[in-house]
Amino acid sequence: MWADLAPVGQDPRTGGYRRFAWTREDATLREWFAGEAHRRSMEVVSDRAGNLWAWTADADARPGLVLGSHLDSVPDGGAYDGPLGVVGAFAALDLLDERGVEPDRPLGIVCFADEEGARFGVACAGSRLLTGALDPDRARALTDADGTTLAQAAGGAVDVDRLGRDDEALRRVGTFVELHVEQGRGLVHRGVAVGVADSIWPHGRWRLDLPGRADHAGTTRLADRDDPMLRLAAAVLAARTSAEAHDALATIGKVRVEPGGVNAIPSALTAWLDARAPAAAAVRVVVDDVAAASRAVPVEESWTGATPFDTYLRERLAALLATPDGTPAPVLATGAGHDAGILAAAGIPTAMLFVRNPTGVSHSPHEHADTADCLAGVEALARVVAALR
Ligand code: GLV
Ligand code: MN
Ligand code: MN
Repeated sequence: MWADLAPVGQDPRTGGYRRFAWTREDATLREWFAGEAHRRSMEVVSDRAGNLWAWTADADARPGLVLGSHLDSVPDGGAYDGPLGVVGAFAALDLLDERGVEPDRPLGIVCFADEEGARFGVACAGSRLLTGALDPDRARALTDADGTTLAQAAGGAVDVDRLGRDDEALRRVGTFVELHVEQGRGLVHRGVAVGVADSIWPHGRWRLDLPGRADHAGTTRLADRDDPMLRLAAAVLAARTSAEAHDALATIGKVRVEPGGVNAIPSALTAWLDARAPAAAAVRVVVDDVAAASRAVPVEESWTGATPFDTYLRERLAALLATPDGTPAPVLATGAGHDAGILAAAGIPTAMLFVRNPTGVSHSPHEHADTADCLAGVEALARVVAALR
């Protein structure tokens, strides 16, 4: 499965992935998902948000146990963020099959649509639509960098008039467990291959619109300029200083410069701020500081409050995955957002397992997990299914 996915959307220059929602690459990944499900005699259904669900048995018989993750990526993303959870889910079901473990409840594998929000700006768009956390009218009108709307882009694959909360799909999910590469080095420090998620930090994305006045770079006196690049510079420095002061993380990783001439003062600039912290108040302070420094009014494009995972499940999984001497698996908080967090916030008993990442690097072509650790993740998922079936 890993080898089949390896070439899809890979940039030959960097080795990173460009797997954006509702593109040709995304369609290839969705077909791959359906193919793997069909090979295992699973039935595949799309919900109203375009998330794909593969089921082993009649999903309406009783609430199922669902594994899975997403297959889309950030620009120049790694191979593991997302795909590890989907491939790991199929591999875990294969293991259980080999061991003759018969589940009593329907087992599902989900492939969430548009988790990274790389193209339309809203992270976890598929799970947010599914749970009603994203307004369908707003979703349909989201545009990518070329001005294509989400409605236009997704139109070939889903009935975009029906986008929105899907109670029928949600009713089927008794429990959700997402396996994911760790995006830090918590497990490296603890010397174990697999850990359990504790909670997701509050986090959000804000757009900063910075207008200016285009003019000649060689003839306009400095005093006469209205150069939005200076305001961007102030925003970047304020993000760093404020994050340091408030125990937060803040990033300006995407900027659009109009018209983008070397010898012209920009006429307008758009920048996106990503801010996260253990406490929501700290995130708000950082955003306010960036706004003040750049004299911009930040437009909130997405916000996710602190999301604790189900306490009972978390403790149960940590005990289940204990080392032979009885030490429970480590429980780790994360600043990364996940569809599992959106489902947890919607009241679905949800857990996440993390697989050790030797460098901690993620959202980068350098993201990595050793095969032995990925297999430990699959084994952990199989044990979780065996315990919760
Ligand atoms: C998703 O990976 C996010 O945390 O941005
Ligand atoms: Mn990610
Ligand atoms: Mn992910």
